[in-house]
Amino acid sequence: MLKNDQLDQWDRDNFFHPSTHLAEFARGNVPNRVITGGSGCHIEDRDGNRLLDAFAGLYCVNVGYGRQDIAEAIAAQAKELAYYHAYVGHGTEASITLSKMILDRAPENMSKVYFGLGGSDANETNIKLVWYYNNILGRPEKKKIISRWRGYHGSGLMTGSLTGLELFHKKFDLPLTQVIHTEAPYYFRRPDLDMSEEAFTTHCVAELEALIEREGADTIAAFIGEPVLGTGGIVPPPAGYWDAIQKVLEKHDILLIADEVVTGFGRLGTMFGSTHYGIKPDLITIAKGLTSAYAPLSGSIVGDKMWKVLEQGTDENGPIGHGWTYSAHPIGAAAGVANLKLIDELNLVHNAGEVGNYLTTTMTAALADHAHVGEVRGEGMMCAVEFVKDKGSNSLFDASEKVGPQIASALLAENVIGRAMPQGDILGFAPPFCLTKEEADEVVGKTVKAVTSVLG
Ligand SMILES: Cc1ncc(COP(=O)(O)O)c(C=O)c1O
Repeated sequence: MLKNDQLDQWDRDNFFHPSTHLAEFARGNVPNRVITGGSGCHIEDRDGNRLLDAFAGLYCVNVGYGRQDIAEAIAAQAKELAYYHAYVGHGTEASITLSKMILDRAPENMSKVYFGLGGSDANETNIKLVWYYNNILGRPEKKKIISRWRGYHGSGLMTGSLTGLELFHKKFDLPLTQVIHTEAPYYFRRPDLDMSEEAFTTHCVAELEALIEREGADTIAAFIGEPVLGTGGIVPPPAGYWDAIQKVLEKHDILLIADEVVTGFGRLGTMFGSTHYGIKPDLITIAKGLTSAYAPLSGSIVGDKMWKVLEQGTDENGPIGHGWTYSAHPIGAAAGVANLKLIDELNLVHNAGEVGNYLTTTMTAALADHAHVGEVRGEGMMCAVEFVKDKGSNSLFDASEKVGPQIASALLAENVIGRAMPQGDILGFAPPFCLTKEEADEVVGKTVKAVTSVLG
C-alpha cells in the first residue's frame, strides 16, 4: 500500500481535479482527501476519519454507501458480459429491463428511454433531439433554448451554456448563442422584498413572456428547468410557478425539458419531481439516482409527442445519427436495476420525504432566528441554509469573505459533509435517503456549531 505522503505528491503532480482551484491545489493550499470506504450515510478516508456525508457525494448516492446487492449485481454482470453496444437493436437483459422499470415509474405520456453516462451528456442528447424534432416538423428556425439563471444542467458546451452560473461561463466563451436565460425562480432573492410569493411567480412569468416576445416564439424550441433548483442554491419554486410557466410554454408551442438529474427517483419524497409539481414534460433528464452512482448511467426519457416525430424522422432520413459507445452500458444497467429494486424494497422514497422534512424543520427551528441566517428552505431530502450580512435587507457578504466555504469547512471539522453551493453563501444538504432522524439531529447540531464558530 502506498503511504499517504506519496499519494499526496502523486495527486498534486498528476491529477487534474474537476471544480478545483488548480493553482492553489498544486501549491498544496487545498487539502486533498483520499476516500477509502463507505457504509450507509458515512464515508471513511485514509487518515481514519469517519464522515457523515450529508450531500450523498454529489447528491447521487441515494441508497447510501456499501450496498452489497448493487455491488453483486455489477460483479455478476461484469463476469457474464461486461460490454456489448446498444446500436442497431442490440441490448442486454439488464438494459431492456431497466427501460421498462424506468417507464413504469415515470410520469404519464412517456414513451422511451435513451441511455447515456452522465447528466451532462443526457442534456446534450435532449437538445439534439429537440433540434431534430423541429427540423422534421419543417421549422428549422425554431431552435433557441430557454434556461433559467441559476439553473445547472452540466458542464459540456451546450449544457455549460444552459447552466446559469457565472463560473461555468466565464473564460469558456459560453453561453453559445442558441441559449437564452430567464429569471431564476428564487423567491428569497426577489427584486422587491414586498412581493408576495404569488406576485413573484407572476413576475417570473412576465419575464418569460417578455423574453419570448423579444426573441420571437417561432425561434424558440424548448425551455429547460430543474423542478427544484439544485446547484444554483437548492431553491424550491414559488407557489404556482410550474403551472403558470407551463401555460406560457403551451401557448407558444415550446417544449419542456424537466432536468430530474437530482430529483429523479425519490429525492423530493416522490418518484419524480415532475409528479411532485404537476409538470408535464416532453423530455426528462435522469442520471445520479438512477444507479445511486454505483456505476455511471444517465438517460433521456422521451415523451409520446416527440417520439412519434423521431420515428417519422428516421422513416424520412434513415437511422438516427446519435449514439455513444457506452450507451446502455450493461454494468450501468445492472446497477440501475438493482438500485431501483432496493429503493422499492427499503421504501426509501417515503423515507426521503419523511426524514427530509424532519431535517428541514429541525434546521429551521435551530437556525432561522440567527442574525445572519436569511432563510432555511428545503423540499424532500434537500435542505439549504442561506447566510446574509443583514437580515432585514438580505444583503450579501462580500464574496471574498468566503462565508459559505468557511462554514462548510467548520462543519467538516466536525466530521459532517455539507456543500458550500457555488454562487452565494449557501450551505446545502442532500443526504442519502436512508438518513435516520438521529443522523439528521447530528447534522443540525453540528451545523449550528459550525455557523456559530464562523458568524458568532
Ligand atoms: C440538475 C443537473 N443536471 C445535470 C447535471 C450534470 O450531471 P453530470 O455531472 O453527471 O454530467 C447535474 C449535476 O450536478 C445536475 O445537478
